[in-house]
Amino acid sequence: MYKINENYLKLPGSYLFSTIGKKVRAFEAANPDKKIIRLGIGDVTQPLAPAIIEALHSAVDEMSQAETFRGYAPDLGYEFLRNVIAQKDYKDRGCAIEADEIFVSDGAKCDSGNIQEIFSVDNKIAVCDPVYPVYVDTNVMAGRTGEYDELTQNFKDVIYMPCLAENGFAPELPTETPDLIYLCFPNNPTGATITKAQLQEWVDYANRVGAVIIYDAAYEAYIVEPEVPHSIYECEGARTCAIELHSFSKNAGFTGVRLGYTVVPKDLKCGDVTLHSLWARRHGTKYNGAPYIIQRAGEAVYSEKGQAQLKEQIAYYQKNASTILQGLKEAGYTVSGGVNAPYIWLKAPNGMTSWEFFDYLLEKANVVGTPGSGFGANGETYFRLTAFGSYENTVEAIDRIKAL
Ligand SMILES: Cc1ncc(COP(=O)(O)O)c(C=O)c1O
Repeated sequence: MYKINENYLKLPGSYLFSTIGKKVRAFEAANPDKKIIRLGIGDVTQPLAPAIIEALHSAVDEMSQAETFRGYAPDLGYEFLRNVIAQKDYKDRGCAIEADEIFVSDGAKCDSGNIQEIFSVDNKIAVCDPVYPVYVDTNVMAGRTGEYDELTQNFKDVIYMPCLAENGFAPELPTETPDLIYLCFPNNPTGATITKAQLQEWVDYANRVGAVIIYDAAYEAYIVEPEVPHSIYECEGARTCAIELHSFSKNAGFTGVRLGYTVVPKDLKCGDVTLHSLWARRHGTKYNGAPYIIQRAGEAVYSEKGQAQLKEQIAYYQKNASTILQGLKEAGYTVSGGVNAPYIWLKAPNGMTSWEFFDYLLEKANVVGTPGSGFGANGETYFRLTAFGSYENTVEAIDRIKAL
């Protein structure tokens, strides 16, 4: 008789966005005349930039001719893409990352979930609280977290690093030493960032205690302040302690197109074994590569035209972010994020829990956001709004909230 992976049974409740979906559908069914504005899920709404569409069309045409048709992609990704990533995302920023340290994938969600596979199940993970749930849940599935405690809403063997208003939503170095440290800046869900000097402390710490930092830079394109680093490799010593995850979803609107990459520097070693060799082995065994067409679209992201068009697209979302941030401040809310990030993190008013505020906002303003408690115990009483809606809807949502 077969047995299941019982670790899956430790995962609490249903997935955040399916619960939100159910509540919204029930409200819609009961109120068919109400126009709901969705500022909850972190999905983009603007169409792909013309330079990317052009690259997609021309790659599709290549696939129609025997001479230019492509089958399986190289394991790590096409060189044309890895070279341009190494140049534009790293070398141009003074970071020593080579093209053969870049692994192209179909997005950061898979990579952030799969990367834990190359580490022992005995390793202890440290995560921010609140946190992007994928980091914790995939470690639960792997059996690395111990049991879930309903009371604290925490897993017994996970080190949670509180990110609260008092510390500017930036984690402090943990008192218990972790093996794997998940960091994400600009942060989802809080929209917080840390400075290069703060990140350097983490890099020094990881090198000192022999930990690996898994640095999620999915929202790097939203950084506007000069002291906020775009990559962990801007910090000295990061090549021996950090893996970096990137997504094309939020900088180029690839949420439905799917493309990302992970950097594993060759200096990252456990004894004589490089993590690069393990990830290469995993990638080669379990993954057959992002499609050629999509990798060509990814290359276009870095073209002169692509860069100019995407700058405008990001500016559009940034304008939404500041509209939400300013509007909520004027309405008397306690708000943060929204400057170097497309997420605005607000305190639920009048002592409401985050789900109470979700229901209140849906009912009274017909606006959908995301309850902070879905991101961890320390997200309770907080709420996330995203800048990924249309400008018109964003303005209308804020007007409705102001009028409450
Ligand atoms: C922090 C973080 N990492 C990774 C992802 C996933 O990105 P992708 O679309 O590339 O899978 C998201 C998506 O919302 C995210 O918020």
